[in-house]
Amino acid sequence: MPVKFESVSFLYLPKTPFEHLALDGIDLEINDGTFTAIIGHTGSGKSTLVQHINALLRPSKGKVLVGDYVINAADKKVNKLQELRKYAGLVFQFPEYQLFEETVLKDVAFGPKNFKDNEQVALEKAKKALSLVGIEESLFDKSPFELSGGQKRRVAIAGIIALEPQILVLDEPTAGLDPQGAKEMMSLFKTINERGTTIIMITHDMDNVLKYCDRAVVMKDGKIVKIEQPSELFKDEELLKEISLEEPHIISFAKKLIANGMNLKLSEIKDFDSLIAQIEKARAVK
Ligand SMILES: Nc1ncnc2c1ncn2[C@@H]1O[C@H](COP(=O)(O)OP(=O)(O)O)[C@@H](O)[C@H]1O
Ligand SMILES: [Mg+2]
Repeated sequence: MPVKFESVSFLYLPKTPFEHLALDGIDLEINDGTFTAIIGHTGSGKSTLVQHINALLRPSKGKVLVGDYVINAADKKVNKLQELRKYAGLVFQFPEYQLFEETVLKDVAFGPKNFKDNEQVALEKAKKALSLVGIEESLFDKSPFELSGGQKRRVAIAGIIALEPQILVLDEPTAGLDPQGAKEMMSLFKTINERGTTIIMITHDMDNVLKYCDRAVVMKDGKIVKIEQPSELFKDEELLKEISLEEPHIISFAKKLIANGMNLKLSEIKDFDSLIAQIEKARAVK
């Protein structure tokens, strides 16, 4: 079942001098199994938007449908809230700040246990999730605080993956990671997506949007200004300027090659591998 926003508005601190309309009439549908990017400047409402998907925030107006769950305004009950939070797992920005258990394994097993799995099952799910995110068994009994930054982030993400969500929501998951760590993180999400999990990811990295996502939702001032396939979106220089979005580095590079007379198909370029394939094709034609 898809995710559906129907005329959703959200007001922070209503009826105070700090009242702020963070979402303004959002209509959005996200299909099962897709990999969607949410992009836009800081303050445009991205985090506010995604926190509606597991009812951490509730609409001031309108409603959100997630699978079989209906999320209405805060004065109405969300049925089966606990189940919803398992169905749609949300990874916050800098999730490693939320690690708290004595050991890595216990930290990841905490979620499943909290959702009523017995100890044995919870530990099994935790081990599976840890192995998926690439944390070795030798680290299972360490304190999460002994790990490197990138490892902590993986453990925190494993904590959500262990709940086996149908929808995985990620708020800037690669922010602050080194390039290699970010790359590994992105291929992890790709693997998870290929196994059938819907992924909704906030990011500022346009190269990742182009390489991994099938759709980009562009936000500005609490509104959606564009929903587009990334390769289409990044082709349109006028539009990028209008919504002040940066172009992926790989596209800028390809455009320079084209300007220098190389015959490349821009719409076929998503990452280094596809760029190289295009270059080889162009050379073969010569
Ligand atoms: N807890 C809050 N109280 C009041 N205003 C907030 C709160 N959180 C965010 N805002 C405001 O709502 C707007 C959208 O914020 P946010 O959704 O965090 O944007 P983004 O994730 O795109 O940077 C911003 O103007 C921000 O200052
Ligand atoms: Mg944010």
